[in-house]
Amino acid sequence: MPCTVIAGGFWGDEGKGKIISYLALKEPLDLCVRTGSVNAAHTIWYQGKRYALHMVPGGFVNEKCRLLIAPGCNVDVRSFLEEVELTGVRDRIGMDIQASIIEAKHSEQDKAVKHLKDLGTTGRGVGPAVEERARRTARLARDVLELKPYLTDVSAETNEAIDARRNVLLEGTQGLLLSLYHGTYPYVTSRDTSASAICSEVGVGPTKVKNVLVVLKSFITRVGAGPLPGEIPKEEAQKRGWFETAAGTGRDRRAAPFNFELARKAVMVNGATQIALTKLDCVYPVCQGARTFDNLPTEAKEFVSEVEQQTRVSVALVGTGPDALDLIDRRI
Ligand code: IMP
Ligand code: MG
Repeated sequence: MPCTVIAGGFWGDEGKGKIISYLALKEPLDLCVRTGSVNAAHTIWYQGKRYALHMVPGGFVNEKCRLLIAPGCNVDVRSFLEEVELTGVRDRIGMDIQASIIEAKHSEQDKAVKHLKDLGTTGRGVGPAVEERARRTARLARDVLELKPYLTDVSAETNEAIDARRNVLLEGTQGLLLSLYHGTYPYVTSRDTSASAICSEVGVGPTKVKNVLVVLKSFITRVGAGPLPGEIPKEEAQKRGWFETAAGTGRDRRAAPFNFELARKAVMVNGATQIALTKLDCVYPVCQGARTFDNLPTEAKEFVSEVEQQTRVSVALVGTGPDALDLIDRRI
């Protein structure tokens, strides 16, 4: 590593959770910092069990890894406490004193305001909580009694770990095309989702980052409203094995084929040094569970090469199934 940023390249749900779990088990990972909020869910399969995590960092699968919630996060206290119990990480998770708090009223506003409903928000209250933070009336983690045992200074911990050359992962959520600045406005989320913003939410300067790993799925999905170039009907998505439902809200995900122009944009804005290409097995079913590149069918290899040629960035990791270890690691 030592400091790697993971960012989604499309509209979220590219399979970041799976890539994070692989890196956490392989590297080995010392520190994993979650950004964003509960609108995003990271799906992780670990020891035969499926987790859809809204708050706890995906690095939890490595039992030695310290877990942190960034000051730029918006925290749903109940979800956080439930997930801490579910994953058994109470002794190794910390939260920044300045993370801000989502309250019941924020979620109610998200579901009641017509404009937000029309955008198809997740209804978790993140946009209204961010508004409140910008108004400087938000409650912060330091104001919540139940969070006292977890409070820490996340930027200090993270920078010290980087300086000590420990392996650090900054876990982005959602994807570039949901970015408040770079996405399909107004059909976007309430924050910037790019690699720079992930660093900013944590409190790490750009010179401290060694790798920016952009995760691209072998086809594209999005939930909620807004443009999706090349969108195919649900029946067609089902036929191709591309039909998915959202890990967080259970809604149908809309689907489209891979788009090289969007991939180039994701690589450019994030300053990608590497690409992780997930779900290759959903486009080329014979790739299911493959762990070596050479045995892939020619078509699949050509697709991977074309991604590299068009983006000028190497595809370091290729996902071939849901398990953390269903993956081709081309770095080794
Ligand atoms: P909000 O972030 O809940 O305000 O929702 C705004 C838009 O972003 C909606 O289209 C959501 O479906 C989408 N969105 C937010 N978080 C995620 C995510 O983690 N994955 C996919 N879509 C998301
Ligand atoms: Mg997700």
